[in-house]
Amino acid sequence: MFLTDILIIGSGVAGLSFALKVSSFARVTLVTKKQSADTATNLAQGGIAAVLSKHDRLEDHIQDTLISGDGLCNREIVQTVVEEGAGRVRELVDLGVSFQQGQAGEEFDLGMEGGHSARRVAHAKDMTGREIERALLAQVQANEQIEILENHMAVDLLLESKATKKSTNGKDRCIGAYVLNRTTGEVETWRAGVTVLCTGGSGKVYLYTTNPDIATGDGVAMAYRAGARVADLEFVQFHPTCFFNAKVKNFLVSEAVRGEGGVLINKKGQPFMRQYDQRGDLATRDAVARGIDTEMKKSGADCVYLDIMHKGRAFLEHRFPTIYGTCKKYGVDISQEPIPVVPAAHYMCGGVLTDKWGVSSVNNLLALGETACTGLHGANRLASNSLLEAVVFAHRAAQWVKKHWLEIADQERRSVQDWRTGRARSIEENVLISHNWDQIRRLMWNYVGIVRSKKRLQLVERRMRPILIETKEHFYNYLLTPDLIELRNIVLMADLIIKSASLRRESRGLHYLLDYPERDDVFFGKDTILDRTMNE
Ligand code: SIN
Repeated sequence: MFLTDILIIGSGVAGLSFALKVSSFARVTLVTKKQSADTATNLAQGGIAAVLSKHDRLEDHIQDTLISGDGLCNREIVQTVVEEGAGRVRELVDLGVSFQQGQAGEEFDLGMEGGHSARRVAHAKDMTGREIERALLAQVQANEQIEILENHMAVDLLLESKATKKSTNGKDRCIGAYVLNRTTGEVETWRAGVTVLCTGGSGKVYLYTTNPDIATGDGVAMAYRAGARVADLEFVQFHPTCFFNAKVKNFLVSEAVRGEGGVLINKKGQPFMRQYDQRGDLATRDAVARGIDTEMKKSGADCVYLDIMHKGRAFLEHRFPTIYGTCKKYGVDISQEPIPVVPAAHYMCGGVLTDKWGVSSVNNLLALGETACTGLHGANRLASNSLLEAVVFAHRAAQWVKKHWLEIADQERRSVQDWRTGRARSIEENVLISHNWDQIRRLMWNYVGIVRSKKRLQLVERRMRPILIETKEHFYNYLLTPDLIELRNIVLMADLIIKSASLRRESRGLHYLLDYPERDDVFFGKDTILDRTMNE
């Protein structure tokens, strides 16, 4: 058994920021399932939204967030995040993050994105996430109180009730996690005072996604299995503009391109967004993704196009070097031709339900970043509010842990049973895993996508059932592999998304149900909460 004070699972902006903050009073172990920089943070292009200009107002950012969230945000959380945002962004600068400066010596060059009423997105051109990850990782690697374990993949959370074999009257305590060491193939027992889930989202549940391969909903799946409450998983955000090209997987074309004047056009070269929303190309993401989906269905085309040619090559190469370079590499010169784009699964607005400190419904278990459902995003996250939420909540969670640290450090550290393999054997045919992965992703794309119907939800729930059962059997029959662990998480995530979508009989934000096309505040102005201990 390995002992640590604080076990962080995931190495994106949330996990790294939190690690740095708690390292002043505790020993930290950060496990990450691949290399440290294999994170969604690293791919984030647009930037981090905050009120950083004297021409902007906190109340405007609050209102934009609330409007985007379509009546489901928690106003107190929105206000807190917006008010604390600028301080956290400046803290990133102190930690070495280099944001693009404004032209007339202004502190930041602020970008525009959909749903925002002002320029408020601090960025590092179109590589903001990479720059934040670089700076934070350098700090973490230099910190002697933090141990990073790469190629370590969490399997399940450890619970006090399992260690003591006693019932907990509904409120269990998380005491660490079982972690697969991918190098040795052993499942290690990690005992910790506090465990923090920062595993990002679950885009890999869908066939087409902007997410990296690690985004398999591990944190939410583990938390749910451990009895934590999860919420609002029906609100899957589809980014309107993923590069459409057979040779490149999940490459995002940042919303900042529309912020700089990019226009969505159909195959006839006609702009179309105003037909669907009066805010046009800079409407909130739910509206733009739906507009594109409708336009593609109407015309039968495989994609639409994003036209930014009028900005000229010099501007595009300077402002969007990654997008310019990647599109060029795959045969599209964005200064000469429009970019073929399609919507793709991008962000999980729901997650592990937390309070205003990032604390889940299971004692000593926290969730941060995309893994959490804090109440900030409601039914549709506002562009560039995700990195913001991650840094604000990493700070708040660190404050909470610090305040309770003496009490937590004093708690008895019982020994826990090590992982038992029983009669499990090596999986001989990986196709047993890969086929189900593929089926889940296709089913979710076709049945639980941008536009949903009651019929499709009923059918997909039925089709998912045998895969759930088969995966459970594999989990007990075979020795663990990373693919099997991810399959188990992905099928559970798919099931939770379907269940949540079936419970919400209205259309709101990212959840559009053909049978109930209107928003219904009387019955559904509330979070969809799932809890294994109640559902069983
Ligand atoms: C983008 O650059 O369009 C993505 C940023 C975000 O998801 O907020």
